[in-house]
Amino acid sequence: MSERFGHYQSELYLQAYGGTKPPFTTDPTRLEAEAERVLDPGPFHYVAGGAGSGATTRANREAFDRWGIVPRMLTDATERELSTTVLGQTLPAPVVLAPVGVQSIVHTEAERATARAAAGLGLPMVLSTASSTSIEDAAAASGDGPRWFQLYWPNDPDVCGSILARARASGYTVLVVTLDTWSLGWRPCDLDNGYLPFLKAEGTAVPFSDPVFRSRLDASPEEDQAMAVLRWISMITGTDRGWDALPFLREHWDGPIVLKGIQHVDDARLAADAGVDGIVVSNHGGRQVDGAVAALDMLPEIATAVGDRLEVLFDSGVRTGADVVKALALGAKAVLLGRPYVYGLALGGEDGVRHVVRSLLADLDLTLGLSGRRSVRGLGPEVLVRR
Ligand code: FNR
Repeated sequence: MSERFGHYQSELYLQAYGGTKPPFTTDPTRLEAEAERVLDPGPFHYVAGGAGSGATTRANREAFDRWGIVPRMLTDATERELSTTVLGQTLPAPVVLAPVGVQSIVHTEAERATARAAAGLGLPMVLSTASSTSIEDAAAASGDGPRWFQLYWPNDPDVCGSILARARASGYTVLVVTLDTWSLGWRPCDLDNGYLPFLKAEGTAVPFSDPVFRSRLDASPEEDQAMAVLRWISMITGTDRGWDALPFLREHWDGPIVLKGIQHVDDARLAADAGVDGIVVSNHGGRQVDGAVAALDMLPEIATAVGDRLEVLFDSGVRTGADVVKALALGAKAVLLGRPYVYGLALGGEDGVRHVVRSLLADLDLTLGLSGRRSVRGLGPEVLVRR
């Protein structure tokens, strides 16, 4: 049987018996407010904010509320199996830490802290191209831990190839290609705060440590930071691509390739036709297209259409164990956790990330068992009713 993640609950009650409360909240709905207390307005709103009116960020949460779990009784669910296989890797739970860039804006240890926490739990962390830690330093922090790499696709093929080669050489196994951010969405919070971390060279560790990117500059980033930032921004924004561009990635990556940001069933079919290994049904946490449909609302149709041809992962709005159960029941193989772990990082670095993820896993374990289900595998729509 798999690791008993639910034991975190007993651990916390035992500490309570000794007179100690948890160092961070166990309530996922309070994490954002707690993080706001420790962060400056710029970084806080950069993490919490969404595009436009925030309608899609809200819709992502509301979509979960429209489904209810229907518990079963006397199913002998004392022992639960949370481990599962995702893209050929056995994971202790169907949870992956989503790619989140510029983590230095919330904690000095940034991606290194996240990498250590993820590795300790045996869960993959997806390192962002916009990370504030180099590919190699994040890999060193993750040690033997599973690690995936997320690509913002530079329009200079040699720079792209160099970044991918470094990621492979550093032990990143899965390539997650983000398709929904070839330009930033309209984000009023950041605009009103005059805040974009990249302008201050935060989140540029990957290109600035890349020999091919550096060869494209007249002066090194250390000599002329502003020019280097502008050169990089012009490489990763302003260029959308077509489906015919995907073979380039296959030529430069010999592991599984996952397309992140899929929301339309036809795009999911095109992804399967293109032979990629997986997709992430995601709207980037509502940070790109304000008014876009809730990611969860598109999951069942997409999973039904392509779930037997590639692996369907999901993110955007996952906060609780029940959310994970619902996403799996609607066809996801695993979920990516986003903002909650970043709030944990803000609150307590590595310890904060570990606490947030362990809390989610404990909640998932207990919710699964109390719903009368013994395994995360094989959950289907029969687990749920539409409210
Ligand atoms: C992101 N996300 C993201 N995605 C990506 O592919 N590359 C990236 O660098 C980032 N950076 C990033 C920064 C911040 C501050 C946030 C909040 C999100 C999107 C992320 O991977 C995921 O899709 C969303 O976080 C999911 O939404 P929720 O569940 O966090 O609301």
